[in-house]
Amino acid sequence: DWRMDTAANLVLVGPMGAGKSSIGKRLAQALSLEFVDADRVLEARTGASVADIFVCEGEAGFRRRESALLQELLAGQGQLIATGGGVVLSDANRALLSRDAFVVHLDVSVTEQLRRLARDRTRPLLQRDDREEVLHVMATDRAPLYAEVADLHLDTDGCTPDQACRMLLPCI
Ligand code: S3P
Repeated sequence: DWRMDTAANLVLVGPMGAGKSSIGKRLAQALSLEFVDADRVLEARTGASVADIFVCEGEAGFRRRESALLQELLAGQGQLIATGGGVVLSDANRALLSRDAFVVHLDVSVTEQLRRLARDRTRPLLQRDDREEVLHVMATDRAPLYAEVADLHLDTDGCTPDQACRMLLPCI
């Protein structure tokens, strides 16, 4: 564990719907860091949505792009990087995150995820009828992986992005 002042970049990890993008934008502004949303960078560069990348190249293809971009971004500095929820699945990504960044784990319950993502049709892993089951399995599988890389943890259930930001700032 370290404080942000010794790390070149701040990285937000956590499940879909935890608020990585919405909290990240506010936090970046408050900390005078450049906000970078990794999935949006991949979309801008490929000209394809995350869902289309999953269709054309499979999840494996998306994960390769995601890992390459993480490596590239962590070579820079002064950024607040919002990652995709599955970035911690790769051993190499977790090693990079543990070594090279101040990592904030934003968490959320499955109940709250279902609420926040109820109208979302963009996430390929949720384009099915058994969303609740999928989210429970992901939460169980990924919890130890988030914990492994996190320097700081916040449960975002019941807080607005502004409240979450205010709670995090004194700890960064
Ligand atoms: C994924 C999360 C998504 C996106 C992709 C896969 C995941 O990002 O990277 O759909 O495996 O949890 P968000 O966490 O920003 O939704």
